[in-house]
This record gives sequence, C-alpha cells and structure tokens, in this order.
Amino acid sequence: MNNEAEMLVFGAKLAKTLSAGDVIALSGDLGAGKTTLARGIIQSLCGDMEVPSPTYTIVQTYDAPDFEIWHCDLYRLKTPDDIYELGLLDAMDEAVCLIEWPDRMGVLLPKTALGLDISFDGEGRSLNLSGLAEWEKRLVHV
Ligand SMILES: Nc1ncnc2c1ncn2[C@@H]1O[C@H](COP(=O)(O)OP(=O)(O)O)[C@@H](O)[C@H]1O
Ligand SMILES: [Mg+2]
Repeated sequence: MNNEAEMLVFGAKLAKTLSAGDVIALSGDLGAGKTTLARGIIQSLCGDMEVPSPTYTIVQTYDAPDFEIWHCDLYRLKTPDDIYELGLLDAMDEAVCLIEWPDRMGVLLPKTALGLDISFDGEGRSLNLSGLAEWEKRLVHV
C-alpha cells in the first residue's frame, strides 16, 4: 500500500467479502492507517459519508445494506470489562465489527477474527493478515 488511496481501495475490496458476525482486528501504531482502512470498508458499503475516528466516542455505528457496522477504537478502554458495558459482545454476533486496538479486549477478542496488522514501510504501509484458514479462502480475490 503506497498511499492512502490504495488503502481505501483495499478496504473496498475487503468489504465485498464481509457478512454479519465478522470481526476485523486492526492493529498497528498510531498513524499506521487503521482508521483509514476502516473508512475504506465503511464508505464502500454505506456511501461516501464522513467516517471520523472513534477515538473519543469509542464506538461509531453505521447501517450497511445487510448489517450494521461497529467501528470501535478501544485505545482509551481501561479494562476489558468495559467491553461488556459497550455491548460489543452482542454486536459481534450480529454486526460487522472493525476494531482498532483489539489487544485491549484481551481474551474477549474472538478467535474467528481476521487480524490486519499495519506497519510503516518507507512512505507507505505494509499489511500482515492473520486468522483462521477460512479467511484465506474468502480473501482469494482481494
Ligand atoms: N497506505 C498508506 N500509505 C501512506 N499513508 C497512509 C496509508 N494509509 C493511510 N495513510 C495516512 O496515514 C495516516 C493514518 O491515519 P489513521 O488512519 O488515522 O491511523 P490510525 O487509525 O492507525 O491511527 C493518515 O494521514 C493517512 O492519510
Ligand atoms: Mg485510528
């Protein structure tokens, strides 16, 4: 990914493969591009709307045609227990959840999540994918 535009295009391609109950764990340092990638996914499914970083609200929800999208930034979360209060566990069953700083969830992060780890690579970024083998099949065309 050489620039922001390529990141948005990747998000749009990934978005086509998503369905209700999918969890995407977006990791990487501050400024790596987690919110940018989430924005690419959300805008391709919900239209060209504003997608602010949920740094302060922790959660922003969006209505995609087939499911709700929860865009979360857990950076400010104090303990994994706050996850219960947010209603994130129920949301993970029914919505598509895009979670920045997923390590804050501890063991509450589902094993079925697709991990996308973004790192700085010169002027651009590189992306490392992890998750169950099922994701590999789903992502062959991405
Ligand atoms: N693939 C990329 N190559 C270069 N710059 C990028 C890329 N993706 C995003 N950026 C830029 O890096 C910054 C990332 O910000 P943001 O998405 O808010 O990061 P994070 O949510 O990880 O803190 C933005 O200024 C964006 O334009
Ligand atoms: Mg962010």
